[in-house]
Amino acid sequence: MYSPGSIANLGPGFDVFGIALEGVGDIVLLKEQSEPGVKINVQGVGADRIPNDPSKNSSGAILEHIIKKHRLEHGFEVDVRKGIPPGKGMGSSGASASATAVAVNEMLGLRLSKEKIVELAAIGEGAVAGAPHADNVGASILGGFVMIGENWEFIQMDAPRFGIVVAVPDIYIENKTRVARELLPEKVLLKDAIRNINHASRMAVAIAQRDAVMFGKNINDLVIEPYRATMIPCFWDVKQAALDAGAYGSSISGGGPSVFAVGENVYEIGDAMKEAFKDIDVQLYYTQPSNRGARVI
Ligand code: HSE
Repeated sequence: MYSPGSIANLGPGFDVFGIALEGVGDIVLLKEQSEPGVKINVQGVGADRIPNDPSKNSSGAILEHIIKKHRLEHGFEVDVRKGIPPGKGMGSSGASASATAVAVNEMLGLRLSKEKIVELAAIGEGAVAGAPHADNVGASILGGFVMIGENWEFIQMDAPRFGIVVAVPDIYIENKTRVARELLPEKVLLKDAIRNINHASRMAVAIAQRDAVMFGKNINDLVIEPYRATMIPCFWDVKQAALDAGAYGSSISGGGPSVFAVGENVYEIGDAMKEAFKDIDVQLYYTQPSNRGARVI
């Protein structure tokens, strides 16, 4: 089962917006095993950073949940081939969780609704992030642009084509998503909330109207970005460099520390972002929205 990576939040849509990415994803091979429990084998990009303990692994947590819920006597073995670098904000744990949730639904013939598959995948994401959320997994499962509701009910829209650059800095933050969530304030200013609602609404309309420029120009977040910027060296310079190079918009990719930008001249934008990270090594991903979600390959 293949599942694409994703960018969550997309600026003002914290825990609500996600978009699936073309050309970067994880592959999960799920097998039944006669012994109970879950065995996890991970290969590929950043495999050494992925916990094999099922309760701390986004695939493992899902399978343990299923074993308990359905009182299964058998266990599972899962091979995860990582194409998405973990801990960088490109929906890495979410993609593995998504592929696993879709695969186990198929394998056991559970006939779960799409909402329930999203909910199941969010359990896996929760094991890694400390709090379940479904913006990444929603995008990975469904493809395109998603908006996740409070009870995992979603709106999915196919996205128009536009260029996306993700600048992935070579910095490692232990338990990154947990840390990134702990940085956030409990209260926000009304004027900031109003501006975020305005921008987020326009982004959703932009997708529906297939207007990439309006989408990109509304990537503005006053609620989350200022707090998380503190954990990303050079963040404000990188964002400004992307905008100066012609990006329509730029913000933190998911929980960071990667920074994404939306625009047309992606190679110039990418070069500018890389330079603004100064001494930090940066890997650039040039991608676009993928309107196809998790699928058998
Ligand atoms: N919405 C999530 C967050 C995405 O920003 O914490 C990262 O998992």
